Amino acid sequence: MVSRVIPVDPFDLVIFGGTGDLARRKILPGLFRRFCAGQMPPEAQIIGAARSELDDEGYRDFVRDAIHEFAGPLSEDDAQIDEFLERVGYVAIDAKGEGGWEELKSRVRDDLVHAFYFSVAPALFGDIAERLHLHGLAGDESRIVVEKPFGKDLDSAKALNATLAKHFHEQQIYRIDHYLGKETVQNLMAVRFGNVLFEPLWNAQYVDHIQITVAETVGVGGRGSYYDASGAMRDMVQNHLMQLLCLIAMEPPAKFDPDAVRDEKLKVIRALEPVEPHHIVRGQYDKSANSQGYRQDVENPRSFTESFLALKLHISNWRWAGTPFYLRTGKKLKARTSEIVVVFKDAPHSIFGADAGRHRNVLAIRLQPNEGMTLDVTIKEPGPGGMRLIDVPLDMTFADALGPEAEQATEAYERLIMDVIRGNQTLFMRGDEVEAAWAWTDPIIAGWTARSDVPKPYDQGGSGPEDSMMLMHRDGRRWRELKG
Ligand code: BG6
Repeated sequence: MVSRVIPVDPFDLVIFGGTGDLARRKILPGLFRRFCAGQMPPEAQIIGAARSELDDEGYRDFVRDAIHEFAGPLSEDDAQIDEFLERVGYVAIDAKGEGGWEELKSRVRDDLVHAFYFSVAPALFGDIAERLHLHGLAGDESRIVVEKPFGKDLDSAKALNATLAKHFHEQQIYRIDHYLGKETVQNLMAVRFGNVLFEPLWNAQYVDHIQITVAETVGVGGRGSYYDASGAMRDMVQNHLMQLLCLIAMEPPAKFDPDAVRDEKLKVIRALEPVEPHHIVRGQYDKSANSQGYRQDVENPRSFTESFLALKLHISNWRWAGTPFYLRTGKKLKARTSEIVVVFKDAPHSIFGADAGRHRNVLAIRLQPNEGMTLDVTIKEPGPGGMRLIDVPLDMTFADALGPEAEQATEAYERLIMDVIRGNQTLFMRGDEVEAAWAWTDPIIAGWTARSDVPKPYDQGGSGPEDSMMLMHRDGRRWRELKG
């Protein structure tokens, strides 16, 4: 497979929080990979902006280290790194004061696309937006990129949208959900709308239920205080799982353009029914023989925040009335796996009689790792002895089907940053989408607070609390087993 790389137009990219963790792990190594792929024109300029008193050389050393640590095999090519670093500079800046802004203004070229990446705490978004405006950097060619968390509830998300809207039009605001930049997440749309096979069956008449799982083996790491104030609902469900749900459930947009796609996603969120409390399972990982538990990890012995969440949802529209969607996500589980499983209904009548048993088509779309798709198909069990049926998978990993290049597919952040430069908002969340997601989330969290809900402890390295299994078993269904 030969991939086509189309260079983007020359640009200036300013990374506020340029010395932070996200810049080091994702943004800078990602930009370097795009450079190596030939997508970055010679005139591109990347400017780190942060409080540290560094000069250009000092920042280049920081970027070089970040590339060595996080850019994978390409980081062995010193000549490429040197060439990339020629495009990199640094401005020490005070987000809340005047220091550095005139210098930044003098470096940003008026006639090129310029993007400002807010890789900083949300409390600084307003200050930075204001200063960009005051220093004449918020013109029509400017774009801003905003990281999650986008608010912590509906009110704060509305306030944030209003703050940004003072100086930027919606078309200039790129709200990142890095799940939308994952190769296979976009493949959801390709599979649904590029094949005639699935769409006629993609509805309550043929689909028994849909499962969305995002399971992680890691715990909360060094982000204890952020996570403990967020929990799985705010950290994963309100954004990443909600986006997956939208892509899997939305109506076909008229075309693959930003507003057509986002209009359809918004309709899904607005059609979500309120969730019954007994359709929610919250969990918190317990300590194990050789690893501390959630409460120790976040240093809060009385924490009632969930590190696991399973939910049963309904979408009230013609397509999905009566088809449940089961979502689950959690940390310290037995495998890192993200997948969407569409379980189709039984055939309406079995010509093979009751002895043939119950057989169903199941389409599993694996987002990570080993991106690919499996479709369980019912066939005759080989050999004599009558008509016995078994289900076998038609199994495809993209790496097998498309060759090794597929394994080095562009990472989410690099793709999304290039989309910002191209001015394509399809894979970014619109303000009304984010607000609608919070409007659905808020009452659920308020219900937990009102009921003083206590998450169920669960074993590390397992599949989450027993109640999550029961959520399915009560309906005569089961989760697909977690496999890495
Ligand atoms: C982030 C969450 O948005 O997504 C993390 O804040 C989570 O808690 C991460 O670990 C998962 O992303 P990925 O790409 O590793 O699936």
